Amino acid sequence: MAQFGRAMLAEWPLDPDITYLNHGTVGVTPRAVMAKQQAIRERIARNPAQFMFRELARLHDMPAPEFPALRAAAEAIGARVGARGDDLVFVDNATAGVNAVLRSLPWGPGDEIVVTDHGYGALARAADAVTRGAGALVRTIALPRAGAGADAYVAAIVNGLGARTRLLIVDHVTSGSALVLPIERVVAECRRRDVPVLVDGAHVPGAMPLDIETIGADWYVANLHKWGMAPRSCGFLWAPPHRQSGLHPPVVSWGLDTGFTREFDWMGTRDPSPWLAAPAGFEFLESLGLDALWKWNHMLAWGGAHVMAARWGTAFEASESMIGCMATVPLPASAGSSPEDAQRLRDALLFEERIEVPVLCRDGGLWIRVCAQAYNEPREYERLAEAVAARRG
Ligand SMILES: Cc1ncc(COP(=O)(O)O)c(C=O)c1O
Repeated sequence: MAQFGRAMLAEWPLDPDITYLNHGTVGVTPRAVMAKQQAIRERIARNPAQFMFRELARLHDMPAPEFPALRAAAEAIGARVGARGDDLVFVDNATAGVNAVLRSLPWGPGDEIVVTDHGYGALARAADAVTRGAGALVRTIALPRAGAGADAYVAAIVNGLGARTRLLIVDHVTSGSALVLPIERVVAECRRRDVPVLVDGAHVPGAMPLDIETIGADWYVANLHKWGMAPRSCGFLWAPPHRQSGLHPPVVSWGLDTGFTREFDWMGTRDPSPWLAAPAGFEFLESLGLDALWKWNHMLAWGGAHVMAARWGTAFEASESMIGCMATVPLPASAGSSPEDAQRLRDALLFEERIEVPVLCRDGGLWIRVCAQAYNEPREYERLAEAVAARRG
């Protein structure tokens, strides 16, 4: 089993002078995966036209390769996330996957997309963009505060659905509040009410066990460049067979109306190396030992959150079952309450203390979200707790 902690930092190209507690935001690609990606690029470069037109995917006017490289990569990822490769297509990021779904659905007057106030803001904007002009609207429902427990989250979401709700977009792991939502229960309740669900699993693959087919949503979108250790830009969109027809990529190209995987596998000439290297991201994680890694990360996030809250005299209320490998902890009132205060503290932590960590402004106060990864260790959260405490008053 791997020895987690600072000794493992050498596996990533991170600046050793920075305490990096922000793995989840845009991901950090391990050196081994970067090397794999470079090898793929070199393979492509030997004869780019041959690779792109004859090996990568099934294209409309070229002889179909027996094993298109993208389909092989999709199979490899699907096997790790509980999905058939044929139901999974690569996209540049979760945002692109959500946009694809939103733009493929017909919106009419009075139709409603429901999002939650713990959802990722960019996706609410994407929903806003497709409803504009169609007379449809986006409604945001408020979720309980951390500590309310899984039942309260399910109830809040279910009670927020209405007769005109045509789509629920809900996070599997929320971004700012870093909570693992009881997604299977949410999806089951939506199915009972005939409300289609798009799950945003941006923070899930590689961070915890994932079985997409068991969740049973209508669409599942995720990033692999966050916790899946794939190079940026790498995400996927999963759709079960009954949701594939009429589902178009965010960039429409030659494949229009030729089938789900064909449409998405060619969105014009682009660098496919992040997608082809995605299986190497999972192989890297597996080499660390997934169960041991997840246990370590959870221990760091859960333990670190308590260390910080105790040092600052604030209340970390989340229940343990809703914490994975990130935790969002309230800062003391003395840290301020405005977006400017948040930015000032974030800058001070980075430029004076050499700690990379997001500071969020929500619910009238400031919060800090810490991530936990193989290269982190408990004393880094203690250092953050001290650094913030030293700035008080
Ligand atoms: C919950 C959630 N969804 C979506 C995204 C968007 O990810 P990307 O910018 O890779 O599309 C993020 C980014 O942090 C996120 O936290």
